[in-house]
Amino acid sequence: MTTSAMKSDALKDKVAFITGGGSGINFGIARNFIELGAKVAICSRSQERLDKAAAELGKSGGRVLPVSADVRDPSAIAAALEQSKAQLGPADIVISGAAGNFLCEAEKLSPNGFKTVIDIDLLGSFNLVRLAFDQLKQTRGSIIFISAGLAYLPYEQQVHAGAAKAGIDNMMKNLALEWGKYGIRANSIAPGYIGETEGTSRLAIGPGLDAVIDSTPIGRLGSVDDIGQMAAFLCSSSASFVTGTVIPVDGGHYLGGSSLLNAAHRRLSESNNRN
Ligand code: COA
Ligand code: NAP
Repeated sequence: MTTSAMKSDALKDKVAFITGGGSGINFGIARNFIELGAKVAICSRSQERLDKAAAELGKSGGRVLPVSADVRDPSAIAAALEQSKAQLGPADIVISGAAGNFLCEAEKLSPNGFKTVIDIDLLGSFNLVRLAFDQLKQTRGSIIFISAGLAYLPYEQQVHAGAAKAGIDNMMKNLALEWGKYGIRANSIAPGYIGETEGTSRLAIGPGLDAVIDSTPIGRLGSVDDIGQMAAFLCSSSASFVTGTVIPVDGGHYLGGSSLLNAAHRRLSESNNRN
């Protein structure tokens, strides 16, 4: 059980389609939604990962559909959305959480490395929401993009993900503007560094992790429930007038900027280059 302050039926019978829902932050969002009464489709590349996650999520009796697709493949995403609609009903909530990332200095990053992250994060997000549009129009639904603070601050070795997430936040605002007339809301959540996730284990290790905690006013890493609870609020009727905005859930990390972490990354690169 999470510690949500929301009523246990806040998302009763809502249908949520969550990319990346088999792991990490997006799994946490799925778990929070189920606890508040939603039916959830989780979607990513690995059917095995999704099946395991669905078994875990289903333990509380919630309805979970694991459906595999690569967000880079529009026809696969369209088929996954159709399957979800057929089995759970049209989506009231779409979470674009699938992403790929790694640390790499710009001068060493290949064009295909840059393109791969843009393809998954930015183009994949558009594929998802564009193909979900008819369902969202029908339900007057809500979209959440999982962004990151590196959309608005430069981080060492993150030229690819920074560009992708900045693009996502801009796209979110355009969609909020154009689709508001259909009752569709679009927002982004920018998580800070979240403990026990693939993202944090790839992006902040050793002194980098210490630097993250030192530069976070609240003085800790976030949890997947910190993000899940914000997502639940944003998709609920309590947030029905909130659209076109980026909400950081980061313990204040982005207030201080990226300088401490960048210095730690630079030290690590320099010592790797020396060895
Ligand atoms: N450093 C530099 N370049 C890298 C890299 C790294 N750590 N990992 C991959 N790349 C480059 C590859 O070299 C390749 O470019 P090339 O053809 O010029 O050599 C390109 O990226 C594509 O790599 P590939 O392994 O074929 O991509 P993929 O589509 O199988 O996987 C990734 C996508 C690379 C993003 C992979 O890490 C992934 O699947 N991540 C999902 C999970 C994740 O990142 N979670 C954290 C979210 S914050
Ligand atoms: P994660 O567990 O690795 O989540 C990424 C998910 O995306 C995985 O479930 C993966 O599943 C899926 N995925 C990757 N490529 C895909 C593709 N091409 N098509 C469909 N699904 C794909 O990492 P996480 O750290 O929890 O990150 C989740 C989200 O939070 C990401 O958007 C990330 O940028 C964002 N974020 C994370 C942090 C953090 O501290 N962790 C901070 C800021 C923002 P498959 O491998 O099965 O495809």
